[in-house]
Amino acid sequence: MQEKDQSVMEKIVSLCKRRGFIFPGSDIYGGLAGTWDYGPYGAQLSHNIKELWWKHFVSEQENIFGISTPTLVPEAVWKASGHLSGFTDPMIECKKCHHRFRTDHLPEENKTKKKCPDCGGELGEEKAFNLMFPVNIGSSGDTTAYLRGEIAPGMFLNFKNVLDTLHPDLPFGLAQIGKAYRNEIAPRDFLFRVREFDLMEFEYFVREETWEKYFEMWRLEMWKWVERVGIQKDMTHELEVSVEDRAFYSKRTIDFEFDFPFGKKELYGLAYRTDHDLKSHSVGSGVDLTYFDEETKERFTPHVVEPSFGHGRTLLAVLVSAYREDVMGDETRVYLAFKPSIAPVKVAVFPLLKNKPELVEKARGVYALLKKEFGAVVFDDNGNIGKRYRRQDEIGTPFCITIDFDTLEKGTGVTVRNRDTGEQERVEESELHIYLKEKLS
Ligand code: GAP
Repeated sequence: MQEKDQSVMEKIVSLCKRRGFIFPGSDIYGGLAGTWDYGPYGAQLSHNIKELWWKHFVSEQENIFGISTPTLVPEAVWKASGHLSGFTDPMIECKKCHHRFRTDHLPEENKTKKKCPDCGGELGEEKAFNLMFPVNIGSSGDTTAYLRGEIAPGMFLNFKNVLDTLHPDLPFGLAQIGKAYRNEIAPRDFLFRVREFDLMEFEYFVREETWEKYFEMWRLEMWKWVERVGIQKDMTHELEVSVEDRAFYSKRTIDFEFDFPFGKKELYGLAYRTDHDLKSHSVGSGVDLTYFDEETKERFTPHVVEPSFGHGRTLLAVLVSAYREDVMGDETRVYLAFKPSIAPVKVAVFPLLKNKPELVEKARGVYALLKKEFGAVVFDDNGNIGKRYRRQDEIGTPFCITIDFDTLEKGTGVTVRNRDTGEQERVEESELHIYLKEKLS
């Protein structure tokens, strides 16, 4: 990892903590590795990204239906899908210090010399480590379930429910946003590799002979999403995943990789899952999961193309893409150039001076009106104007509005300051709504 990039990562992690985006999970009890808490701005940013994803891949699509299914899933499901045997990472343990490593994350030298990177001791034999978290359910605890390692089974288990109720024609998709849990051997790199995370994903059911067409269609749509959410396209790359590296259920996978400060790593996946899941769950449950084409009178098991989006990795890639440093006046300033659609705060309203009741009253009035219209609007009278701008820049607020004496005495409107350029312009109060609506859309 380059030193410069490492420092960007540290700055982002520090900004997230300082400004109330993201904190280490269960911090006051010493933390729990691989978990993170989202503070007020982080939770809002997270929510905005999910909402935008839902809009892009569910509401704006004709034939993708959103569902929501439990995170607790019985053992039989995972047995049928192959996760109990196949959802593993290769692990190796040091015979001396007993630290465990993912074999595929070990430096080449340590791998070939079988030498522990922590203590230099000898590494043992590689084992397959299952990532699923088992849970004992009920008062006697004799029912075993698993916290879902992926959210996809929810869509396969509801394939028949949706067929029987909505009667959709092929192709159609089932989408979901929700938590997944993986007992990662070594959680690391902030939100990148964690043990509990949200996934945004859909299963697109198609006729076998059309899978390539839809694979290509969703590949292109994934690029549109990358742009729409504010991930830098020139930092995003496609990787054709080799047979050895593909998940056990996939016949073709493309990874979307992103230039994270700690290296080029997987951001998203696009997989052709064949008919593996519907067939396995049909055998496992004894329920027919085929599709009947009324026109051709054929009955068959659909195949599946699956675009999968890690939510935490999206948020991290958005933060890295949005992070900027420049010089304004004599000072270096930091700002987050979020797209307005996902910015946690859209507009901040300030009275020029905190101790002038007439300014405060006027600013409160403007704030109340804008809040009704745009929701994510804050009132800020803490510290001098310069400090307020710096604070809102770090939160990524696209516009700051200042009410000054000219607003009151001359009726010359309010000052609107643009986050990215720092430029200020006077806008008539009566024009403010239209002005902001246009700029924020
Ligand atoms: N249903 C397909 C599936 O779950 P995956 O490649 O195992 O595929 C999908 O995971 C996405 O979830 C990845 O592309 C990545 O964005 C995210 N992801 C996977 N493991 C993660 C982890 N430990 N922490 C954070 N995000 C993770």
